[in-house]
Amino acid sequence: TPRVFSGIQPSGGLTLGNYLGAMKRFVDMQEAGTHETVYCMVDLHAITVWQDPEKLRRATRELCAGFIAAGIDPKKSILFNQSAAPEHAQLGWIFNCVARMGWMQRMTQWKDKAGKNQQNASLGLFAYPALMAADILAYHATHVPVGEDQKQHLELTRDVAIKFNHDYGVDFFPVTEPVIEGAATRVMSLRDGSKKMSKSDPSDASRINMTDDADTIAKKIRKAKTDPEGLPSEAKGLEDRPEARNLVNIYAGLSGQTVDQVLAEVGGKQFSEFKPLLSDLAVDKLAPISTEMARLMEDQSEIDRILAHGAGQAREIAAPILKKTYEIVGMVGA
Ligand code: TYM
Repeated sequence: TPRVFSGIQPSGGLTLGNYLGAMKRFVDMQEAGTHETVYCMVDLHAITVWQDPEKLRRATRELCAGFIAAGIDPKKSILFNQSAAPEHAQLGWIFNCVARMGWMQRMTQWKDKAGKNQQNASLGLFAYPALMAADILAYHATHVPVGEDQKQHLELTRDVAIKFNHDYGVDFFPVTEPVIEGAATRVMSLRDGSKKMSKSDPSDASRINMTDDADTIAKKIRKAKTDPEGLPSEAKGLEDRPEARNLVNIYAGLSGQTVDQVLAEVGGKQFSEFKPLLSDLAVDKLAPISTEMARLMEDQSEIDRILAHGAGQAREIAAPILKKTYEIVGMVGA
């Protein structure tokens, strides 16, 4: 069976963007049963910018609870944290020697995150996409569900696979397909329709956190930026209306409908009518997840047991692929 791999950083809490763009779709792929599904908390990626160790541990466990609460079943999917499978870092090194400086310099995430002072960014932040390629290729994963913002990194993953195969004259690593599908692959800030919803935005009102309670969700949606017009009856009517489009996309993502289906239902309404529908839907979908997350967090040893089990399963797949890679490259004793 073909294999799916995807990852989420345990840095800060989960947002509605992570949920709709990634986690909900991870669950769909698990339930489809057409692929073996491998999902990872990428703690090694998180430390490319400094993390408080205690907070990192907590965020990793909370993310694991989030995966399970959202519907990832450790009996159906492999669920683990990256550092517990050392093959990621080992293959990452090999890929550091395959990827080119120029490729990394073109990454928009690198440019955004390093900012003006690139000299002071960590070397790990620069090499970030090579480790990401290792995450995926250590499993020979063919399909990677992600949000729109990871597209460029997945193109680099393809380039790494192609160059490795070419440099060593092998046909070993698959060329991975990004899976960027559905209405909510790019959830935008509630305050500014030109900015991505992000856990690092200084304004908490810009995002819905998976742990927000019902009142907070309702308040953030009520205050979300819109334009004075009502809702159109066709998707065409959302052009050049980024805030309106975003709220409709969120509704579609949460309800599992297409944008056209949503507009067939709510077209003609004012935002004052639509927003309460949206917050009811959001609370309906998110509240059970955050309640379950909190419950799971009460038994940390159970979470740690699930993670350790997942790491064992992950390593069973990754270790032989790493060994073969070492042989191809010319390492003695591989
Ligand atoms: P991260 O942790 O920033 O985000 C996790 C996933 O959530 C998606 N996402 C969004 N989708 C829609 N709208 C948004 N506003 C939004 N914000 C975040 C991201 O696209 C992502 O799918 N580099 C990755 C983690 C990673 C990874 C991997 C992913 C490491 N190795 C291997 C796939 C395969 C990242 O930083 O995601």
